[in-house]
Amino acid sequence: MSLNEAAQKPHDRLAAALAEDMDAVNQMIRARMASEHAPRIPQVTAHLIEAGGKRLRPMLTLAAARLCGYGGPYHVHLAATVEFIHTATLLHDDVVDESERRRGRPTANLLWDNKSSVLVGDYLFARAFQLMVEPGNLRVLDILANASATIAEGEVLQLTAAQDLATTEEIYLKVVRGKTAALFSAATESGAEIAGASKDAVQALFTYGDALGIAFQIVDDLLDYGGSAAAIGKNTGDDFRERKLTLPVIKAVAKADAEERAFWVRVIEKGQQGDGDLDHAMALMGKHGAMESARAEALAWAAKAQAALTVLPDHPLRGMLSDLAAYVVARIN
Ligand code: IPE
Ligand code: IPE
Ligand code: MG
Ligand code: MG
Repeated sequence: MSLNEAAQKPHDRLAAALAEDMDAVNQMIRARMASEHAPRIPQVTAHLIEAGGKRLRPMLTLAAARLCGYGGPYHVHLAATVEFIHTATLLHDDVVDESERRRGRPTANLLWDNKSSVLVGDYLFARAFQLMVEPGNLRVLDILANASATIAEGEVLQLTAAQDLATTEEIYLKVVRGKTAALFSAATESGAEIAGASKDAVQALFTYGDALGIAFQIVDDLLDYGGSAAAIGKNTGDDFRERKLTLPVIKAVAKADAEERAFWVRVIEKGQQGDGDLDHAMALMGKHGAMESARAEALAWAAKAQAALTVLPDHPLRGMLSDLAAYVVARIN
């Protein structure tokens, strides 16, 4: 590896290594996000898709396929599918979370309305299903269709766990595995599967995606309290306002004394939030080492992701995927 390469972030190195494939994916995304019949569709999709986004998930699919020696054309369809599913869930998620910023721009629900976000999200989901059929491979169809159902289950489980102080770390893990890790693992597993990889390799890439996705979401939840809005392209404090029991909150609640518990009951269960409450919540999380402890868990999941890669053939992409796992957690340093 050259010095220049080493200085790049793992995400950028993956993007460089997969540049040709990613161009094809972006071209396919652009071609399939349009609609001749309803002008609102290209308006909304262009707003969100042209804003970029890290394109992490499609890169995972491409990397998994290439790492497993794939030489055909269909990894591009699968990568575009995965980004469409992701984009559809973001449109729906921002309605559900009443979020106002995404990818450094106002959300579609703010610029247009909830109806447009829900319906264009549905359209993108449908486009994703059209795309995932095209490779004519039942196994990848199974993986991606299952992931779509699991993501929705995760979001619904979160809905019922929100505002409930009895939410455990076990429930949190279930939510995160569903709403986020399911697409990461489907991205990597479908890439391996289209390449006709061995059972062990497919399993390894599934495990990598699952653990990476969990680490990624734990970090995303930490950034909602400690990140900068400019860096994440979203507003911070959304989870507190939405009264979500994310990992650092669950950990702080578990260690709360009577007075602290009364605070959590007021702001999370009763939803009575005022000036200074977010700061106080963060102070309590600091006092109990909740952020540090959640970060340690993210690190452990990243290490699990890295360990899963060891059965795969020695390949530059394998090293980049391993570095990516470390980088995802380093975002909060
Ligand atoms: C946002 O994912 C949704 C979560 C799972 C936290 P990303 O942070 O990958 O979103 P983009 O695609 O880069 O905007
Ligand atoms: C993201 O959930 C998961 C999905 C979009 C399914 P969040 O609500 O935690 O993510 P952000 O913070 O809005 O990106
Ligand atoms: Mg959200
Ligand atoms: Mg959400």
